[in-house]
Amino acid sequence: MNELHDKVAVITGAGSGFGRELALLCAAEGMRLVLADIDMAGLDATQALLPAGTQVLTQRCDVSSPESVEDLATQTWARFGAAHLLFNNAGVAVAGPTWTTTRADWQWVLGVNLMGVVHGVQSFVPRMLEQDEPCHVVNTASVAGLLSVPASSVYCVSKHGVVTLSECLHHELRTANAKIGVSVLCPAFVSTGIADAARHRPAELADANPLAAPFEARVRKAVQSGKLTAVDIARATMAAVKADRFYILTHSNIRPAIEARMRDILDGRQPTNPMP
Ligand SMILES: NC(=O)c1ccc[n+]([C@@H]2O[C@H](COP(=O)([O-])OP(=O)(O)OC[C@H]3O[C@@H](n4cnc5c(N)ncnc54)[C@H](O)[C@@H]3O)[C@@H](O)[C@H]2O)c1
Repeated sequence: MNELHDKVAVITGAGSGFGRELALLCAAEGMRLVLADIDMAGLDATQALLPAGTQVLTQRCDVSSPESVEDLATQTWARFGAAHLLFNNAGVAVAGPTWTTTRADWQWVLGVNLMGVVHGVQSFVPRMLEQDEPCHVVNTASVAGLLSVPASSVYCVSKHGVVTLSECLHHELRTANAKIGVSVLCPAFVSTGIADAARHRPAELADANPLAAPFEARVRKAVQSGKLTAVDIARATMAAVKADRFYILTHSNIRPAIEARMRDILDGRQPTNPMP
């Protein structure tokens, strides 16, 4: 999808991190924007960074709620009459040993990271198919969708789900001769708000893994020491959209771990720990 000027981009999780930088790049392309998040202050801060004259709709949207995402689609078409680029980007993270994960950990993270993408696809793709114009869907997964990282099973399960969902969607849309491209974004650690994801954890799902603290501290340190920035990730993502490239692997240093996993599977070996 090369012609972006005046087209409509919808971005979830646009109040921080990757979502904010994607919004700025889309605005620089002359796109009209629909920015969604549960954090309205974050959305206001993103909006304040946009070039003057950018046409933008900001909307509170909880991606874990199908009704909330359906309303986002309804409001998008009411305001702009179309959507061409959908970034299912909102996400949260938890850490800790699998055997002490709580039901709330699973419900929260799968609700946002996996069902959020499902809801985005269900509410936007049928309308895009009807629209019958070139469109593109970018689902934010992670290298955690390609690897199995100790003390990250909840997050890894959610992101592996996003990778396979995206692959299935790609095949289905190709088979249907649809004009909708798909990409799956798989970054490693980048310094954003992700280490503070619990800031938006719903009170009814507050029951967290009792052994999370040391593992969360490790994730925070890794995130903070990430060499690439959110701007780098957003640039790589936009380049992939323009080139209609499916896999967006932003961190080349992760490739050996992905190759090792594939070799382990094919050779019937015990899994190599990607983060010993
Ligand atoms: N930063 C990293 O190291 C990294 C690496 C790989 C993948 N990711 C993924 O990138 C995506 C963006 O994360 P980020 O790093 O920019 O983090 P971030 O915390 O800076 O941004 C995430 C945004 O999602 C929003 N959000 C949280 N729950 C929501 C909900 N229920 N509905 C709508 N919005 C919600 C937050 O308010 C926040 O604005 C996530 O899917 C994350 O899993 C991040």
